Amino acid sequence: MRIIIEPDAAAVAVRAATRVADLIRRSPACVLGLPTGTTPLAFYGELVRRHREEGLTFSRVVTFSLDEYIGLPRHHRANFTAYMRRNLFDHVDIDPANARVLDGRAEDLLVACESYEAAIREAGGIDLQILGIGSNGHIGFNEPGSSLGSRTRVKTLTRETLEANAPSFEDPDEIPRLAITMGVGTILEARSCLLLALGEEKALTIRDMIEGPITAQVPASALQLHPDMIAILDEGAASRLLRRDYYSSGRHKS
Ligand code: F6R
Repeated sequence: MRIIIEPDAAAVAVRAATRVADLIRRSPACVLGLPTGTTPLAFYGELVRRHREEGLTFSRVVTFSLDEYIGLPRHHRANFTAYMRRNLFDHVDIDPANARVLDGRAEDLLVACESYEAAIREAGGIDLQILGIGSNGHIGFNEPGSSLGSRTRVKTLTRETLEANAPSFEDPDEIPRLAITMGVGTILEARSCLLLALGEEKALTIRDMIEGPITAQVPASALQLHPDMIAILDEGAASRLLRRDYYSSGRHKS
């Protein structure tokens, strides 16, 4: 895992957007896996800016969203598909047919999960999976205890996740208790992974992910097994790493 520590959130966004833009320029029909949440907002903003000002084109890019709430109306602000439209899809030249999302209102969720996995395979697999991390160590909605080999499926959200996501809902009773998410195994199959984390409130989780044992209790720790995984952290998120100085010294890649 390669660890990059940037001074602040804006620098994390620029660094991550540069990696994605380089990939798109090298490989215009690349396949990206995309997260929602507060962490990637500035990153998406930077991609939109590069599209507008630098001609970065998404015309052949294919994207797969990482997760989605179950049962939330499609127009709801907290719906992850609505988030992706608001923050990226509506502002770049992506072909809507290539912006694949999970359907949290599918009649048969099992079929929806299986066809998502099939669609990823048919697209040739994910070239670059972007990730955030929950304070409880989740990636996607793979909550602690998720099998490290899991595939796209329905998960029950933990109390911590419900609390963390509550600000997106006016009425706490509206918050879905279930979500559909790519599995840890699905994520690990991406050819490369890029995890972004911001702020001291993520620092202990980041330490567990990078320096702790690989365990289903911290699903993000499975990324230690990935051969091409980069974590881009701000100073706050990196602040509890035991080997912080080592990661910052030279061109470390472990
Ligand atoms: C969202 C997702 C989640 C978030 C995580 C961090 O699509 O996959 O794993 O990345 O909950 O969320 P923020 O960025 O809001 O702290």
